[in-house]
Amino acid sequence: MDEKHHGRITKEGIRLHESADFAGMHKAGQVAARILDEITEHVFPGQTTEEIDRIITEKVNAAGAKSATIGYRGYQHASCISVNHVVCHGIPSTKTLKPGDILNIDVTVIVDGWFGDTSRMYVAGELPRKAERLIQVTYDALMLGIEAVRPGNTFGDIGHAIQSYVESQRMSVVRDFCGHGLGRVFHAPPNVLHYGRPGHGPRLEEGMFFTIEPMVNLGRPETKILADDWTAVTRDKSLSAQFEHSVGVTTSGFEIFTLSPAGLFHPTYQQAQAR
Ligand code: MF3
Ligand code: CO
Ligand code: CO
Repeated sequence: MDEKHHGRITKEGIRLHESADFAGMHKAGQVAARILDEITEHVFPGQTTEEIDRIITEKVNAAGAKSATIGYRGYQHASCISVNHVVCHGIPSTKTLKPGDILNIDVTVIVDGWFGDTSRMYVAGELPRKAERLIQVTYDALMLGIEAVRPGNTFGDIGHAIQSYVESQRMSVVRDFCGHGLGRVFHAPPNVLHYGRPGHGPRLEEGMFFTIEPMVNLGRPETKILADDWTAVTRDKSLSAQFEHSVGVTTSGFEIFTLSPAGLFHPTYQQAQAR
């Protein structure tokens, strides 16, 4: 029992938060989600990912929040921006976006000590047909995973829901990165795997807070890390997509802390149509 934070820790090391803690997570999650909403109009061909990150940094500060990623293990940016075959942890750079590029933007903020972590897909210009399918399957996989969140289910149920759907669509789930517990810390137990077997893994209990953030590839699941020690890419150079929500386990199911205030979580079709 941790005197300062109250709440219990399971034998797997997973913190069970108090019901009052949901409000803190909601507030942090909404700040992160709003920043992702507001960045939508800044994604277009010719734009640099460095400029997108600069605007995100500004918005984090304007919200009175703190970036969780600046200074995290030496990382120096307020976002990860992962373009096309970059799986995750893409570093913002001076490279410009090309028409038809798809990208994941991942933002984590700290508000009143609580962490809000979310990412979603964007497109520069028109969305290519193959990318559209990949993005839709990845989004649906995340939501199927979230629908498995309720007390009594296991983390294996979440992973299985994601994996079985993705593989039924002849795409692959990345194994090398996973979701994570969070709350007053960025990365806590458990590792939330996006593959698994029904009934396996720790049992879900009310008050657990964690992310689900499946990465899905059009080709094979293997990844490699580039020489910058951060950027993860698909080994076969196939396109990769990811969506991430921070969620909490409630009495009867789940609360999504990072729902888009503007309803833009999966905006790529509208974006494509608007141009
Ligand atoms: N936000 C990422 C996650 O979903 C972590 C980024 S860590 C960084 O867990 F240092 F690369 F920013
Ligand atoms: Co995360
Ligand atoms: Co994230």
